Amino acid sequence: MGEKIVLTGIKPTGDLHIGNYIGAIAPAIELSNQADMRPVYFIADYHALTSMQNAEELHNRTYEIAAAWLSFGLNPEKVLFYRQSDIPEIFELNWILSCQTSKGLLNRAHAYKAKVEENLAAGRDPDAGVYMGLFNYPVLMAADILLFQANLVPVGKDQIQHVEIARDIAETFNRTYGETFTLPEALISEDSAVIPGLDGRKMSKSYGNVIPLFVDEKKLRKLIFKIKTDSKPPEEPKDPNDSILVDIYRAFATPEEIADYEQKFREGIGYGDAKQLLFEAVNRKLEEPRRRYHELIHDKERLNQLLENGAERAREVARPFMNDIRRKIGKY
Ligand code: TRP
Repeated sequence: MGEKIVLTGIKPTGDLHIGNYIGAIAPAIELSNQADMRPVYFIADYHALTSMQNAEELHNRTYEIAAAWLSFGLNPEKVLFYRQSDIPEIFELNWILSCQTSKGLLNRAHAYKAKVEENLAAGRDPDAGVYMGLFNYPVLMAADILLFQANLVPVGKDQIQHVEIARDIAETFNRTYGETFTLPEALISEDSAVIPGLDGRKMSKSYGNVIPLFVDEKKLRKLIFKIKTDSKPPEEPKDPNDSILVDIYRAFATPEEIADYEQKFREGIGYGDAKQLLFEAVNRKLEEPRRRYHELIHDKERLNQLLENGAERAREVARPFMNDIRRKIGKY
């Protein structure tokens, strides 16, 4: 079967942590290297505007994301890698699609619905604090996806509904104006590793339990030594399936190393030694990207150049298709 266009947007919010790397960055980069994939990965900087109104923060986060993905080996020759805001066609399509999107469909979108429910529970006006950006978020996302004729959209579970909305909008448009858009499908990696944070809960910025991706070696070791363990003495056998250390180790080591590590747990290993081994495995994976990241983040000109080249190539795809869409709606 032919090539598949695989497209995903990366919102430039929050500090990246090893959970982001294991759950999103690593699998997406791996996917992008498959021969039968045409990867389109972009920084959804205008989507971030719904929650980020600090100019400096949006600016910095955008470059941080670009540097991070490149430092983990994203190949800008193979991947169409650009910044959403550099593609004006997306925003034109956004409007056209919004005219094919019923308000009722967007009323049912999770993020908006949750906000309304929260307001109602607090006795406020249902739309208190709701901005049109939040409400229309799924339409902009549909424009991102449909403009590039994506077949597959790798996303986390929380974004499945958005991909379904994009599909619905595409179907409506196709019915109105004739076959135009490819219907996208969400791609959820089933075993998408959710790695635990320092306290054993899912690693998440909101829990304050993260191991940031690009901290120096000393800090990384310190954080790993902070991971919560119980008070079993070193020689006591430990269940490898009941340890945060093993859970994290599994995401960073080879199958043989993992088997070996698990065996050590069953035989009894002190937590200090186990943490040292974990640190070494994590650090081995991160040290090269960390070095590259720090190099890149100080070279904004180079990052900018890369993103602009990406946008130029993306627009070569978007322009003719947008012309086609314009003709279909009657602009000719
Ligand atoms: N909404 C996505 C998120 O919050 C980011 C995103 C924007 C996206 N546009 C997209 C993802 C298009 C996939 C396809 O993570």
